[in-house]
Amino acid sequence: MSRSAHPAGPRHADVLTEGHYAAPPADLNTLDPKVWAQTVARNADGVVTVGGVDVKRLAEEYGTPAYILDETDFRARARAWRTAFGAGADVFYAGKAFLSRAVVRWLHEEGLNLDVCSGGELATALSAGMPAERIAFHGNNKSAEEIQRAIEAGVGRIVLDSFQEIVRVAHIAQSLGKRQKVQIRITVGVEAHTHEFIATAHEDQKFGIPLAGGQAAEAVRRALQLDGLQLIGIHSHIGSQIFDMSGFEVAAHRVVGLLKDIRDEHGVELPEIDLGGGLGIAYTSDDDPREPHEIAKALTEIVTRECESARLRTPRISVEPGRAIVGPTAFTLYEVGTVKPLEGLRTYVSVDGGMSDNIRTALYDAEYSVALVSRTSDAEPMLARVVGKHCESGDIVVKDAFLPADLAPGDLVAVPATGAYCRSMASNYNHVLRPPVVAVQDGEARVIVRRETEEDLLRLDVG
Ligand code: LLP
Repeated sequence: MSRSAHPAGPRHADVLTEGHYAAPPADLNTLDPKVWAQTVARNADGVVTVGGVDVKRLAEEYGTPAYILDETDFRARARAWRTAFGAGADVFYAGKAFLSRAVVRWLHEEGLNLDVCSGGELATALSAGMPAERIAFHGNNKSAEEIQRAIEAGVGRIVLDSFQEIVRVAHIAQSLGKRQKVQIRITVGVEAHTHEFIATAHEDQKFGIPLAGGQAAEAVRRALQLDGLQLIGIHSHIGSQIFDMSGFEVAAHRVVGLLKDIRDEHGVELPEIDLGGGLGIAYTSDDDPREPHEIAKALTEIVTRECESARLRTPRISVEPGRAIVGPTAFTLYEVGTVKPLEGLRTYVSVDGGMSDNIRTALYDAEYSVALVSRTSDAEPMLARVVGKHCESGDIVVKDAFLPADLAPGDLVAVPATGAYCRSMASNYNHVLRPPVVAVQDGEARVIVRRETEEDLLRLDVG
C-alpha cells in the first residue's frame, strides 16, 4: 500500500516513519502473539483477557496504570530455559529485569538460579527463600558492606569486576574465615549489535577486566594466589537485546582461549564459564527472537567445539537471561486521557503514566507496540504517539503507533512486552506514584507489588 493511499489519509504521509509503522497493520484488533503474553486473548465482547481475567475488571479492581504479569507465561519461559540447558548447565535469572518476592519463589520452584547486582536485590532474594548457594552476586562497584553480607549469607558465587575487587573480596572472605567461590568478569572486545548504553563487551566501558593486553590473565594470576578466593570460572556478558548469535560465538571463543592459557600457565582447568544474558525479545512484530532451545544448542555447540580444539574438558556453562524470561510476560495497562490530533502531524494520545513507568523509550529510543484493549474498533487507523503525563516533551511511551481513530478518553490501551526493565527502572518523577504489578493466572489476579501511595512518598520526606 502506498503511503498516501492508507486509510488515515494523505495528511499523515509526511510524518510516517520506517519499518513496521510505514503502513498500518491490516487489522488493529488482532494481537500478535509474538509481542503479547502467552494467555492474552480477546473475549466475545472484544475485551482483552489475560490469564482468563479481563482488563476492564483489572482496571476497576487495581486501577491504572498497572503492570499485568502473566504468571503462566513467566513460569513457562523459565521452564523452557531450564529444560533447554538441561542438568549440565545453570540458568541464572537476571533479577535486574524485574524482581519481587513472588518472582523469586516462582524461580525457585522452576529450578532456576538468580543473578543479583545490589544489596537490595540480594535482600529480596533471601527474604523470599532463594537458597544463597543459588545466587550469583554481580556489580562493578559492590560496597564492602554488600560483599560482606553476600559472603556471610553464603552466595554461590561473586563475579569479580576489577583488580581492586579481587583484593577486597579476598580480604573480606578471609576475615570471615571463608573461601568464596568467584568468577572473573572479562570484556572480550566484541561490538554487540545493540544500543550503546546496553552493550557491555567492548573495552571502553565500566564493566569487567579487558582480555586485551593480558589484563584478564593477570587478574586470574592474582585471584589464584589469594587464600580467600576459589576461582571457579570466567564470566562474559556482551550486552542486551541481541538477536545475532555471532557476538556470543566470538565471546565463547575468546573465553575458552583464556581457559586454555590458564591451563597452560597454571595447570588448572577452570570448571565453569558464564556467557551472561542479553537475548533479545519481540517488542514489535518486526522482531524475531530465538527460542531458548535454539540458543542453548548454539551456545553448547560453540563451547564444546572450542574446548575440543583446545583439548580442554568442557566447562559447565551458565547463562543469565533476564529480559528473555520476564519481558514478554507483562503489559502495561493505561487509561486514555487527553486525545490531541495535530493537523498534518499525528495524534497525541496521553495516558495516565509515562516515563516514570517506562523510561526505555526516552533512554534507548526503544520501540513498543500498543493496542486498544477495552473494546474492538472498526474505525480507520490513525497515526498516534502515546505519551505520558510528565512535564517533559520527551515523555513518550510509544513513538509511532496506529490506533483506531475513534479512540476516546476512558478507553484502555496496553503496551506489551513491558515485563523487563520497566517496573525495575520506574521512578517517582513529578511525584507520580509507581504502578502495581498484578499477577494473573487461571482466572485469578493478585497484587505482587502494590501501587505506591502518597503516604509512601511522604514517609521518606522527613524534612
Ligand atoms: N547478566 C549481566 C551481567 C547483566 O549485566 C545483565 C544485564 C544481564 C545478565 C541480563 O541481561 P538481559 O538478558 O536482561 O538482557 N536497562 C536496559 C538493560 C540493561 C541490562 C543490564 N545488564 C534495558 O532496558 O534495555
